[in-house]
Amino acid sequence: MRFFVLGANGNTGREFTDLALAQGHQVTAFVRSPEKISRKDKGLTVLKGDPGNVESLVEAMKGHDVVISTLGTGGFAAFKPHDLLERMTPCMVAAMEKAGIQRVFFVSVGLLFKGGGLPAALFRFLLRNNNEDSRMGEKALTDSSLDWTIVRPPGLAKNNDESYHSLEGGIPPKAFRMSFRALAKFMLDSAEKQLHSRKVVGLAS
Ligand SMILES: NC(=O)c1ccc[n+]([C@@H]2O[C@H](COP(=O)([O-])OP(=O)(O)OC[C@H]3O[C@@H](n4cnc5c(N)ncnc54)[C@H](OP(=O)(O)O)[C@@H]3O)[C@@H](O)[C@H]2O)c1
Repeated sequence: MRFFVLGANGNTGREFTDLALAQGHQVTAFVRSPEKISRKDKGLTVLKGDPGNVESLVEAMKGHDVVISTLGTGGFAAFKPHDLLERMTPCMVAAMEKAGIQRVFFVSVGLLFKGGGLPAALFRFLLRNNNEDSRMGEKALTDSSLDWTIVRPPGLAKNNDESYHSLEGGIPPKAFRMSFRALAKFMLDSAEKQLHSRKVVGLAS
């Protein structure tokens, strides 16, 4: 398959690129800082671009099967008001429609599900700005006629664990933490097996 990855320099994007290339897929990494990518795989194309520029997205996207959106606002900026996904996701949707691509995976946040008790309520409050930005990104997709899967992971960690549990429409049991790699593996598996079309999916390790 030909994957078009937004946020390929981030934690999830890097893991997705690694897994997809290892499975023999082709990956186009559409990034603002191509110099950050040092790997030279046969199946990898690195393009410099702005995910907020619809016209350049359209040209770059043409011919791909699946778009993977792993954009996000990391670090302390995640706690402050921001609108990255609110601004970028409509551009991605518009570009996909123009380029004739239907399938997309969008990484959102598990905290948009209700429940989880007091710990989740605390994190929901602390990360309210990030949650709101993700919610607006989700809305751009659910308002579209694209074949989307919205993925809502719990807190993410850097390790090589690739195991995950998924649940359409809710939080799987013990959804405290999982790895970036397992999140990427879920999206790759679901793309390959054509699962979770127009579903919001909760993940756990
Ligand atoms: N981390 C967690 O624990 C966690 C938990 C649940 C959900 N999530 C969600 O998962 C998603 C991915 O998280 P992550 O930790 O993998 O993200 P990340 O490592 O912070 O990477 C985000 C990517 O977005 C890119 N980006 C940010 N602003 C951009 C801009 N203005 N223009 C172009 N590219 C831009 C960054 O590019 P550069 O590399 O060029 O900076 C980076 O590659 C986020 O939406 C996050 O809310 C994260």
